[in-house]
Amino acid sequence: MCSIIGYRGDVSASKILVSGLRRMEYRGYDSVGVATFSDSQIRVKKGVGRVDQVNNRSNLQTLPGNIGIGHTRWATHGRVNETNAHPHMSSSGEIAIVHNGIIDNYKELKEILQGRKYFFKSETDSEIIANLLQYHYDITKDIKRSMIKTVRELKGDYSFVAIFADGTLAAARFHEPLIIGVGKKGFFISSDVLGFIEHTDEAIYPDNGEVVIINFGGIELFDFAGNPVMHHLTKISKEFADVYKGEYAHFTLKEIFEQPNSILRAGDNSRTEIEAFVSAIRDSRQIYITGSGTSYNAALVAKHLFLKYGKKKIDAIISSEVRFYPDYFDNQSTLIALSQSGESADVMEAVKIAKDSGAQILSIINTMTSSLAQISSISVGLNCGPEIGVAATKSFTSQLSIIYKIADMVCDKSIEFDLKKISTAMSKVLESSSRIQKTARVLKHASDIYIIGRGIHYPIALEAALKLKELTYIHAEGLPGGELKHGPLALMDSNSFVIVINPNDSTFNDTLTSAREIKARGAKIIGISDIESDVYDHWIEIPSINESAYPFLEIVPIQLLAYYAALENETDPDYPRNLAKSVTVK
Ligand code: F6R
Repeated sequence: MCSIIGYRGDVSASKILVSGLRRMEYRGYDSVGVATFSDSQIRVKKGVGRVDQVNNRSNLQTLPGNIGIGHTRWATHGRVNETNAHPHMSSSGEIAIVHNGIIDNYKELKEILQGRKYFFKSETDSEIIANLLQYHYDITKDIKRSMIKTVRELKGDYSFVAIFADGTLAAARFHEPLIIGVGKKGFFISSDVLGFIEHTDEAIYPDNGEVVIINFGGIELFDFAGNPVMHHLTKISKEFADVYKGEYAHFTLKEIFEQPNSILRAGDNSRTEIEAFVSAIRDSRQIYITGSGTSYNAALVAKHLFLKYGKKKIDAIISSEVRFYPDYFDNQSTLIALSQSGESADVMEAVKIAKDSGAQILSIINTMTSSLAQISSISVGLNCGPEIGVAATKSFTSQLSIIYKIADMVCDKSIEFDLKKISTAMSKVLESSSRIQKTARVLKHASDIYIIGRGIHYPIALEAALKLKELTYIHAEGLPGGELKHGPLALMDSNSFVIVINPNDSTFNDTLTSAREIKARGAKIIGISDIESDVYDHWIEIPSINESAYPFLEIVPIQLLAYYAALENETDPDYPRNLAKSVTVK
């Protein structure tokens, strides 16, 4: 949710911190701050807004010193204002911290520390870390001991970096990401390799429950009991260098256009895992599939495929709902978890509940170093490269790619899909982007958009609605075509827009009938189909392909429609308001 970063090295810290934060802004972007150490003093600058806005206003980059920490926030505790922005200082000003995650017991700790005359300025849970560290440091005068005492008292999920008044950086990781970059010009501590990728491609991945101290003597890692731990240096894969927008106006557009290639790469690094995945599914008595948001919509596609082609029942459960059904799983069941980030708190909670009941955990993930990968018995990688746009695009079609491969191997009937053909057809859809841009103009003043699809196109309608909501802030709702007459038809009038997902397959005639019913109520219809019809006010043509492959083709024009409609409405497609890419809070 938030991003944290730290640097200690030979060059000016603030510039490095600001550029790292800019790259990690996708994780949270309502406020920003940096603290550096020089001349025995910690100085902080922070403010509300995006990294560039705050930097232009407050010159974060001019803070002096070669040691520092930084943060971008996605508010959980306390309003979006300058006081609540990180870094937070201890009351004596000798320690500053940046934090990602949630401290569950901050209220109790705050009362205790207030009783000991430590004072607080913000409404955040995070500030407790600064004062708790300060309290233990005041007693022990030892950074390692104060870190260990602090992490033992904190309850919740967190990673944080602290800067002490002697220039030492200290960090801890507990169920939130933390990576150390080891470069020629110094050490970096970050929530994501994107925070330091332009400086080094060598990293250390601390395990959960570990502490890092970086000072003039170098780097030291130990567990929460204080025992030293060793880690190998890992070479970061080259794909992470691909984090520039290039010729594209936005990351979202770039990522939409990457799809003809990224669907082909999905699962490429995981051939053995795919085979193991398939036999685990074959051997399971009961299979469940889970995810949040877009990943859940991909899970619904899996459910349809297994039912249609394998007569195999998979139960799809929204991750955040799992906690209300704790007896779902047993030691004969398998839970497949889908997640781009591999860090979504709701998905992790669902997986932990299933694992505690003895279920086997399989996962499909983009970030193979994530917490979800660590907890799974088998993980297959999306391999689509970093997805920076907050709204998921290429990760969705890569999830489909892997789901189709696996379903094809498990199901009795062949799904008959050819990824190469799909990729070529996707490129054709992308070639018509300027026509889609024109169609997007009609959505400029829309207040409600409905998307209908039947069968396997219903999850695509849900995904379409999610994209339109996130990117345009227009109310959008995905519906199964057959359900209109059971209620939603009451909403249709001349102000409504309806996107009809209607490829030439077994759903075609029924969906066309639904479109006519809607049209009769005066709504405007955008048809996504390989066959033109007089019922469409606007027709977005997709190439004809075999029945099972249409979902790949129909989501792409809707991603583009949402992107261009966002531009019409002057919203930022890469960073929709109130959202964050990696939702690590429940
Ligand atoms: C939608 C979107 C979110 C994510 C959801 C799960 O465009 O990006 O709905 O799909 O937060 O994220 P992951 O897949 O990282 O678990």
